[in-house]
Amino acid sequence: MFSINSKVRELIMKFWQQKVGYFLVGITLFILLYAFKLVPIAIQPSIAKQSPVTHLATVSSSLAELSAAPAQLPPLPYADNALSKVIDAQTMKLHHDKHHATYVENLNDALKYYPDLQKRSVEELLRDQDRLPEKIRTPVRNNGGGHLNHTMFWQIMSPNGGGQPTGAIAAEINKTFGSFDAFKKQFNEAGSDRFGSGWVWLVRNGQGQLEIMTTPNQDSPIMNDSYPIMGNDVWEHAYYLKYQNRRAEYLNNWWNIVNWAEVNKRSLVSLQQQSSRG
Ligand SMILES: [Fe+2]
Repeated sequence: MFSINSKVRELIMKFWQQKVGYFLVGITLFILLYAFKLVPIAIQPSIAKQSPVTHLATVSSSLAELSAAPAQLPPLPYADNALSKVIDAQTMKLHHDKHHATYVENLNDALKYYPDLQKRSVEELLRDQDRLPEKIRTPVRNNGGGHLNHTMFWQIMSPNGGGQPTGAIAAEINKTFGSFDAFKKQFNEAGSDRFGSGWVWLVRNGQGQLEIMTTPNQDSPIMNDSYPIMGNDVWEHAYYLKYQNRRAEYLNNWWNIVNWAEVNKRSLVSLQQQSSRG
């Protein structure tokens, strides 16, 4: 009896000694790896504490695409009245809180019986719309496009924007269009000529070149294999309260709030996408 008890005790002791040994080895290894910065300790929680501006800029400037599970209205990255030198506060509020919110709501509504489609990004749904069930093809095109276009729109404007383009996009605009003024003129004319509702864009096309294009309604350039670097909303709801029917005046003033830093980030993403497709 005595020998069995002591054997069991011995085994238990051995077991714990081994455990403690493993634990100490583990701790030592972890300290060494951490010292040499080989261990990602955790995803920095500070991203949640960043201001909406920085957070949204990060999202828009990465290859991350918009989630449709469910689609969510992003907050405006500035106050309603922050762009009032060009767009009045009431227009901004209605545009974001009502129009954009409705696109998000309607997109979620269109996808509510399609859990598999909710797993795809808004961009994927738009690129691949021919394969969507016919019943939801038009609502997804209009509301997914509306959500994607407006998400970009808020980010490429800033109360500190305007002036001459900066960074790589400045050089590329000069190279492609001759000068910033020539580019602006062409962009404004395209926006003025867009019949009815739609958007005017600077895109990187499938051949990797900058191009000005317009789209009707809420269509996105990604449906035409082009990446939207910047775009202006020429729906009347974007300017009517201040400019009424004077779209050309709105198009002209809009340059005073263009966020060139964000436009540069988007241009970089467009180049990355281009090279990742080969
Ligand atoms: Fe709009």
